Amino acid sequence: MEIKKKMQDAINTQINKEFYSAYLYLSMASYFDNMNLKGFSHWMKKQAHEELTHGMKFYEHVTDRGGVVVLKPIAQPPVSWKSPEAAFEEVLAHERKVTESINQLYALSKSSSDTAAEVALHWFITEQIEEEAHTSEILAKIKALAKSPSGLHIIDKELKKRE
Ligand code: FEO
Repeated sequence: MEIKKKMQDAINTQINKEFYSAYLYLSMASYFDNMNLKGFSHWMKKQAHEELTHGMKFYEHVTDRGGVVVLKPIAQPPVSWKSPEAAFEEVLAHERKVTESINQLYALSKSSSDTAAEVALHWFITEQIEEEAHTSEILAKIKALAKSPSGLHIIDKELKKRE
């Protein structure tokens, strides 16, 4: 089923959001590298890479359906945060926004009877549940432990294990 212009445009906007997410998390990785929190930085680099794969999944969806991918400019993310906790607060807020925009794409797929997009979006809906849950879990740990330097290093060690 060839993709309609309205859905193509909406997915192109989403591709930009996914690539911005990669930029945001890579910028956070650099922030953590500079703090010598290598586990945090490792986690962020993995997250940035995942975001690129999300962008590419949408890219393939558009091209597989005869559409045109239009790559919009990627905004500059912040370069520093008040604390590791503040950075993870921003990750969670950002992921909630991404979830909202995936939900809007899903609503568009339903209202325009675009079954192909609807099915493809199921994967993203499930992925967002996971992303929000993981981020909330890490944020809760930071809130509980990060008051002491050793607490921060315990979390740093854990985050280093991310595959
Ligand atoms: Fe691509 Fe973090 O959602």
